[in-house]
Amino acid sequence: MSKEKLIIFDTTMRDGEQSPGASMTKDEKLRIARQLERMHVDIIEAGFPAASDGDFESVKAVAAAVRNSSVCGLARANEKDVRRCGEAVRGAKSPRVHTFIATSPIHMEKKLRMEPSQVVEQAVRAVQWAREYTDDVEFSPEDAGRSDIDFLCRIIEQVIKAGATTINVPDTVGYTLPEHFGGLIRQLRERIPNADKAVWSVHCHNDLGLAVANSLSAVLNGARQVECTINGLGERAGNASLEEVVMAVRTRQDIFPCDTGIDATQIVAASKLVSGITGYPVQPNKAIVGANAFAHESGIHQDGVLKHRETYEIMSAETVGWTTNRLTLGKLSGRNAFRSRLQEIGIELPSEEAFNAAFTRFKALADKKREIFDEDLQALITEENLEHVESEHYHLVSLTAHSETGELPFAKIVLSENGSERPAQANGSGPVDASFKAIESLVGSGAELLLYSVNNITSGTDSQGEVTVRLSKAGRIVNGQGADTDIVVASAKAYINALNKLHFKLERVNPQL
Ligand code: KIV
Ligand code: ZN
Repeated sequence: MSKEKLIIFDTTMRDGEQSPGASMTKDEKLRIARQLERMHVDIIEAGFPAASDGDFESVKAVAAAVRNSSVCGLARANEKDVRRCGEAVRGAKSPRVHTFIATSPIHMEKKLRMEPSQVVEQAVRAVQWAREYTDDVEFSPEDAGRSDIDFLCRIIEQVIKAGATTINVPDTVGYTLPEHFGGLIRQLRERIPNADKAVWSVHCHNDLGLAVANSLSAVLNGARQVECTINGLGERAGNASLEEVVMAVRTRQDIFPCDTGIDATQIVAASKLVSGITGYPVQPNKAIVGANAFAHESGIHQDGVLKHRETYEIMSAETVGWTTNRLTLGKLSGRNAFRSRLQEIGIELPSEEAFNAAFTRFKALADKKREIFDEDLQALITEENLEHVESEHYHLVSLTAHSETGELPFAKIVLSENGSERPAQANGSGPVDASFKAIESLVGSGAELLLYSVNNITSGTDSQGEVTVRLSKAGRIVNGQGADTDIVVASAKAYINALNKLHFKLERVNPQL
């Protein structure tokens, strides 16, 4: 018997971006969008076009670049937001406008200061404006989890009449419990006379750690779209995690009457990409994408898995893309091997020039590191993109760092600014601290360091370290990344990448309104 489709709506670039410090540049959004498309995500919510000109441009760029997924923008239920959103997604092959207004008593009274009948009227008009741009219109009654069910029935019936094709029920504050939330979806579908004219969707937040459980309960009660994010990124405690929803439904096909069209082998790559771009590390014991998610530590478990994998594993690491540590290339690999491996792991370079630059970097890395894995290639291409797209104002020319027991660590750097080179040196509590101080003595950014994190890209002490640096200045927050086998160099690259973003004003002041 063929299963119904469960639509996966990814909001990493909209709700996920609302995590503090996780805002993304246009180029970063394009890279994430391409990975989501490669993963066969059905709908990509690319941003909130009315929030800023930068967000408008990002959504427009994603709409133009993506061909195989629908591209959606979010809009409050007012004419200006909806029209701005409609313009931003207009160029998409399949555009969607997502409009919302709050429906809980506390939000209507304290935030909107509107009577319920005004809220219904505004919602209906927003849907009608949106329909001027596309036939694919989604409506969300914000804070539905704390709204009165009779009022939800009233407003949803009206917006479906006005042309909404998807009704998304958000648990905005993560308040509901699985049985309650599933029951809410069932009752709404049963009570609203035109309920069958729309696809039912859910959007759950994780304040009580129940976002995935609530979403799955809704699916068992008729929801056929789940809104989720890579790594569960999102406002406050985050949203339902895409990888957990997809793998729960896939693993328990004995229970679910539907399945997604997601290519799960792309999940780990997506997780790493989003973690690298946002600077939000993935906890090692995170389901599906955590480094230990498939590691068996206890002897009894290891013995069982060796005898028969399914004794302790309900899914295999390969099905979600853990092909890590697969030896791919080495020092002697040529251009053809490099090109075909990039193709195999889904990396496209925009031009032959970009390919040549990436190949040169690959050779330099292979001189330092005997075995090059897929993760190394991904980091290498990320670096290539960073330098090309954010046309460097500052560039690291050289770095010498010294640390010795009992001595004060110091670093000497040469930095080029707009092509002209300048040296500096500084002491610090360690070589990374010293190199940041040396860079800062030249740049004088005055930025505050909010986050410094190092992850090893593969295992082993010869692994490349991937560093994220988050800086804040005058209300703007930027993330910089850098990778190298020498973590002091990786750190300096990440710091300089963040400084370049501050310099080019590549981040928005406030990603959400
Ligand atoms: O959490 C929420 O209510 C939202 C809506 C805009 C869907 O993000
Ligand atoms: Zn949300």
